[in-house]
Amino acid sequence: MNLVEFSRQHYLKPNNIQGWCDDEQVNSGLSTLEQSLLEKICITKGQLLLLGLGGGREAIPLAKMGFEVTGVDFIPQMVERAKETAKKSGVEISGMVQDISKLDLPESTFDVVWLSAAMYSCVPTRKRRSDMLKRINKSLSPGGYFVFGFYWNPKADASSKSVLLKKMVAWLSLGNLRYEKGDMLRFNLEFIHAFTAVEDIKGEIAQGGFELIDIQANDDHPFAGAIARKPI
Ligand SMILES: C[S@@+](CC[C@H](N)C(=O)[O-])C[C@H]1O[C@@H](n2cnc3c(N)ncnc32)[C@H](O)[C@@H]1O
Repeated sequence: MNLVEFSRQHYLKPNNIQGWCDDEQVNSGLSTLEQSLLEKICITKGQLLLLGLGGGREAIPLAKMGFEVTGVDFIPQMVERAKETAKKSGVEISGMVQDISKLDLPESTFDVVWLSAAMYSCVPTRKRRSDMLKRINKSLSPGGYFVFGFYWNPKADASSKSVLLKKMVAWLSLGNLRYEKGDMLRFNLEFIHAFTAVEDIKGEIAQGGFELIDIQANDDHPFAGAIARKPI
């Protein structure tokens, strides 16, 4: 089973669907980090593509601010529930069922692509993240923003001996054969790549054809965020 399918099986469980779609989660709204990223892009209107929709925690307040929101999730029930909850809250959102690591999107359409929570880290291998970034870049209008969150752990054990050992374990267990420093299975349920150096994020963003506008990372906090822009 590949790592994306492994995560999909986790999110597909009824208690997870309920957990991401229940009122408490959806009404918790944007986090302080997300609000701070939003303030930096200085726009609240236009077409916004939200990747990792869940029950609509970010989609609904963003739609209320004035964005026309299209949410993407690989769990069809999440998309349906988010659309229903949005309607009940007085806004309309559109939805698509897709895997964010294999996006099929219209070109030059969105003003903002918003990748939920730390989900940039949920895409395994630098190559796949780079492919995702190129697809996102194509779907943005010139000057459009990519706002995203990622896991941040600069204190991760990065010694070459430890990385070699993890690669050997991955190889022996027929697991993630392309193990990269920072890769882990969170609670044995979901793949995560925690970034350990700002240069790694900068390199991936540049490879995806973006200019980096801002990175917000605190060494004592596992959630970090960044804003990248498609050149005009
Ligand atoms: C951590 S939850 C966040 C949900 C919501 N944005 C929130 O913060 O409440 C991640 C969401 O992204 C979806 N997801 C995870 N990996 C995905 C992938 N590769 N493609 C599409 N959706 C994915 C899950 O089904 C889940 O709804």
